[in-house]
Amino acid sequence: MSLVIEELNDTNCKTYLLASSGEAVLVDPVRERVERYHRLLEQRGLRLKYIIETHTHADHLMVNRQLKERLGAPLLMHRESPIPTVDEHLHDGQPVGFGDQQIEVLHTPGHTADSVCLRVGDSVLTGDTLLIGGSGRTDFPGGDAGSQYDAVVGRLFSLPDETTVWPAHDYKGRTSSTIGEERRTNPRFLDKTRDQYVAQMASLGLPFPDKIQEALQVNQSGFESGEVAFAQVPDVAAIPEVEAPELARRLGGAAPPLILDVREPEEFVGELGHIEGALLVPMDAIEKRLPKLIGYADRAVVVACRAGARSASAAAILQRAGFHDVGNLQGGMLAWTRAGLAVQR
Ligand SMILES: [Fe+2]
Repeated sequence: MSLVIEELNDTNCKTYLLASSGEAVLVDPVRERVERYHRLLEQRGLRLKYIIETHTHADHLMVNRQLKERLGAPLLMHRESPIPTVDEHLHDGQPVGFGDQQIEVLHTPGHTADSVCLRVGDSVLTGDTLLIGGSGRTDFPGGDAGSQYDAVVGRLFSLPDETTVWPAHDYKGRTSSTIGEERRTNPRFLDKTRDQYVAQMASLGLPFPDKIQEALQVNQSGFESGEVAFAQVPDVAAIPEVEAPELARRLGGAAPPLILDVREPEEFVGELGHIEGALLVPMDAIEKRLPKLIGYADRAVVVACRAGARSASAAAILQRAGFHDVGNLQGGMLAWTRAGLAVQR
């Protein structure tokens, strides 16, 4: 049995190469470094089997379609991920094999809804869920401090003490820790109840990272800034969120809203399906189709996507273009199907 775990960036923001018996997995690659990763894999004679993102990042640009093709491996993320370029969705407990090793996927929401930790060999890659002496912030969209407490205290801290912890970030030059060390000394969790943890996370008052809006919109949509005219934060914040059951009720009423689905065609007919009667206009076609869509400007419109991120941007574009009554399906088709509502494929 062979397993090599290596951090590749030597910066605050970490990318891991997992290698075993000629096969490799790249975890949390950073866009600007793709050529270096590619060279390294070639030099080592490793075949890249998977790219895994531990969550949707807000602080750096993730690998886009083109670079994913350059690396030549499918992208795996948890099924709560909003990102349309994901090739395979992961669920809690799923085994992911490479070489003679098997990664166990642990769904650990909190930093984001799609956060996972990856357990492999005697190690666990903790993403931004558990950091050395810290934990990932929970004030970004989809963050939830209570869930993070449950994930760390309830799950990670029950792994064997000697398990090596490899975080996605460290701002003090540290490389790894252990579960036992974190359980005994991590001040975020030490002697804290769940409520105390939630209160602590709510009072951190951290500044938002530079370019968070751009990073999130590009990462979540799978499109580049140039391909789509992304709406800015204040617009997005002004879009009313419509919960799935409420939308279902309105669709059955006298003046049903138009559902505008902004996912990719393959998602529209894919695993999650779509809402009956929904009009498909992928995110990157919205601008171009505005002259036609403007005919619906006086009608109530609810925009939908996978997880509610792309649709929030699209809804803001429509609102700016003069749509009077535009809402965003909260949580997207993930929330719609979770509510047990009917779909077509
Ligand atoms: Fe993060």
